[in-house]
Amino acid sequence: MMHSEYIRTVLLDVAREEKIHVVEFQDLLLKLDEKQVEELEKDRKEVDELLE
Ligand SMILES: [Fe+2]
Repeated sequence: MMHSEYIRTVLLDVAREEKIHVVEFQDLLLKLDEKQVEELEKDRKEVDELLE
């Protein structure tokens, strides 16, 4: 395998794993951190307003 192909394969694999970690970490935060829940809701409203 060429060097750049190897790098691409590794980075894509890491990215795939990190997407799972984001979901797991987000789930934990939303269960344990009330402030995080509030911040997420606030950010959602801001995005909704921007899209109106
Ligand atoms: Fe991670």
